[in-house]
Amino acid sequence: MKIKLSAESSFSAQTDVIAIVVAQKSAKSLPATLDETVSQALTTVLKDEKFDGKAGKMVPFRPLGMLPSKWCLVVGGGDGSPGALRRAAGEAAYFARKNGSKKMSLVFSDKLGSKNSSEQTRAVTEGLYEGNYQFDKYKPEAKRKAALSQVTISGLSGTPKDVKRAESYASGQIVSRDLVNEPAEAIYPESLAEICEALRSDQMKVEIWDENKCREEGMGGITGVGQGSTRPPRFIHMSWTPKGESNGHIGLVGKGVTFDAGGLSLKPSGGMQTMRCDMGGSAVVVGIMSALDKLQPNVKVEGLIGAAENMLGGYAYKLGDVLKMRNGKTVEIHNTDAEGRLVLADCLSYASELGVDECVDFATLTGAAVVALGERYTALFTDNNRFADGFLKHASAAGEGLWRLPLEAKYKEKLKAEWGELKNVGGREAGSITAALFLSEFVDGPTWAHFDIAGPTFVSGKTDHFRKGGTGAMVRTVLSWIESK
Ligand code: BES
Ligand code: MN
Ligand code: ZN
Repeated sequence: MKIKLSAESSFSAQTDVIAIVVAQKSAKSLPATLDETVSQALTTVLKDEKFDGKAGKMVPFRPLGMLPSKWCLVVGGGDGSPGALRRAAGEAAYFARKNGSKKMSLVFSDKLGSKNSSEQTRAVTEGLYEGNYQFDKYKPEAKRKAALSQVTISGLSGTPKDVKRAESYASGQIVSRDLVNEPAEAIYPESLAEICEALRSDQMKVEIWDENKCREEGMGGITGVGQGSTRPPRFIHMSWTPKGESNGHIGLVGKGVTFDAGGLSLKPSGGMQTMRCDMGGSAVVVGIMSALDKLQPNVKVEGLIGAAENMLGGYAYKLGDVLKMRNGKTVEIHNTDAEGRLVLADCLSYASELGVDECVDFATLTGAAVVALGERYTALFTDNNRFADGFLKHASAAGEGLWRLPLEAKYKEKLKAEWGELKNVGGREAGSITAALFLSEFVDGPTWAHFDIAGPTFVSGKTDHFRKGGTGAMVRTVLSWIESK
């Protein structure tokens, strides 16, 4: 997609879609440059449709020669905030893709653009990529709809630099969405490792450990979970170093369960259907790492992924097994479907050994997080308030749902084991919290936060301007957090 910024809101250029974004309070204030007759006709239609200009609301119509485009859209720009404009641009781009449109003019009415609309321009660019996204590579050619090839934005005073920066964020998010949407037949531990290896650059080192090396290195969680599959597990370590002085050292850890059948504690088909998304945490890490060369933040970033397939082959790990983890702690298995915490545990110990000052993990960890917060919110756990507030602030600016849940230490007793040091499940109550507490047992040193992304990683139907499937949730939030260092 080529995005151009144009100073004037002209309606004369030939295009497939003209999308006019108007403010909520002045739904009738169409751009002054719009032809008077068209403007009047449109006003009547909008009134008839009870159009209120709320963010993302849209009235599409055929201009029948009144405008030089096949479609015209009037889109609500809400209060003009970056979040509202991201939605508006996203819906317009979603519509364009659905109709196979290649060129779009996105015109913001005079009331919307602020003097310094850098943030608006970035949000709009992100929204365009989010809404225009579609994973259709496995559909027959004839059914695939083209992506937008060109979008002209007018009415905002941002710069090409804003567009470029937003495009780096969007590209990371798209990497993440594609990885989640790809079937488990395409993304398995070895292929995920290869994708990470392809990120090697002057600044990015990548090291892969195979199953034997993992065993030698005491990664008992990764090897335990991975041993029930014919496709062996991998530990992936990416390390990105800034050109100048580092302003910190952070670790990003991702759950890379490329398919979660539940293991011997087998999931029912319904719950298993979309479990290719269970590497969503690793997809967040890969998405972020893939954007660092472009963004050049001033921090050293370690990306660590525990990749395994949770299957039930003859050698699968069993109930009652006691796994010895990287940091020496022993874990008694009470449910093989609580596997994510096991692969993460080894990665968190490893991150601690690397001496990072801050460590953040991402995981589609618990169904309980989906029950509690639904598909619009990631659950955030940390016992550091400053850390939590930082993420909440960046998430709010990025327009991503993030909600803090308590890391209640008193619930640790639910994880007490009979034969090992810890059990891998803590009972039905507070399932997301006990999972987070389990992880905390493997963090030694860094300030730590855990993101349970089980809800937002893969949405079950159209959600705002996101199609069913992978969303890349948290990639933009965390990139902006990294860039703020
Ligand atoms: N991958 C699942 C969690 C999940 C559920 C992610 C729904 C996305 C959508 C995880 O490995 C799992 O199975 N968790 C169990 C834990 C339980 C056995 C303690 C769960 O949530 O039921
Ligand atoms: Mn599971
Ligand atoms: Zn899982």
